[in-house]
Amino acid sequence: MHRLRLPWLGLLVVVAVYAVCPVTMTATDEPALSKEQIKQFLLTAKVVDSHQSKKGVTNTSRLTLSDGTLTHDASFQPIDEHATMKKFASGRTEMNFVDSYKYNLAAYALAELIGFDDMMPVYVERKWQGHVGSLSWWLPVKMDEAERVKQKLEPPDQDAWNKQMYKIRVFDQLVYDEDPNLTNVLIGENWQLWRIDFSRAFRAYKELQAPKDLVRCDRRLFEKLKALDANELAEKTKPYLTKDEVKDVMARRDKIVAYFQKLIAEKGENEVLY
Ligand SMILES: Nc1ncnc2c1ncn2[C@@H]1O[C@H](COP(=O)(O)OP(=O)(O)OP(=O)(O)O)[C@@H](O)[C@H]1O
Ligand SMILES: [Mg+2]
Repeated sequence: MHRLRLPWLGLLVVVAVYAVCPVTMTATDEPALSKEQIKQFLLTAKVVDSHQSKKGVTNTSRLTLSDGTLTHDASFQPIDEHATMKKFASGRTEMNFVDSYKYNLAAYALAELIGFDDMMPVYVERKWQGHVGSLSWWLPVKMDEAERVKQKLEPPDQDAWNKQMYKIRVFDQLVYDEDPNLTNVLIGENWQLWRIDFSRAFRAYKELQAPKDLVRCDRRLFEKLKALDANELAEKTKPYLTKDEVKDVMARRDKIVAYFQKLIAEKGENEVLY
């Protein structure tokens, strides 16, 4: 008798808890929302709490949002700095320097076009405390790449890891990020990888930053890259990229495709594409 009744008791407790508590998702308990639902949540949910980020230099804030049913965190990055010449602590200078949240939104729109968006959090534009910025869905991160390197941890499946890393490398060459540091590569519980923070990407170069970083390419990504259309890219990134920045992305796309085509001719398709 008791054996039969216990599961019912457990179920009742669960129902009771859900009835009195709003749905709060923890890092390991991600809500199953579609990308569109996540976008709507980020655009409309109320900010119920906020903390200044501990990492990074652009004054990002970790916000807690709630729509009454779901509560989830998001990262708000409002930076929009422009300088004719920027001098860094290292002594390096950069002309026509831009550090802008707009490039996060441009990167996400580009990622959606070439199927890289599953390796990024959803980004939307949102105003908070009088500032417009990018707002990204907080990911269930266990550590970042800087931490993994520091702790000398090896992923359990090196092949699966490399396949993700190769995709990140292709995207990094496409967006020409001046600051692709290891805290911008985030690692999930099952060693899935995400790439965040493009506020210093989209530099005005038609050349690739580090072509040697290109080793192999995901087949689907390669096809999508080849099919990337300048007009569509301009349309989807309109408020965030200038016409020249779009042209630079397209020029780098051509270089990436040509680079892999040369590698394929030398090594054979199966050694390069996967
Ligand atoms: N969507 C997210 N999910 C989980 N963690 C995030 C997310 N966005 C940011 N973070 C965390 O917050 C840190 C700082 O955010 P972000 O990289 O966007 O800005 P930043 O580091 O200040 O910019 P910069 O790299 O230009 O200095 C990240 O390194 C990461 O640890
Ligand atoms: Mg960062």
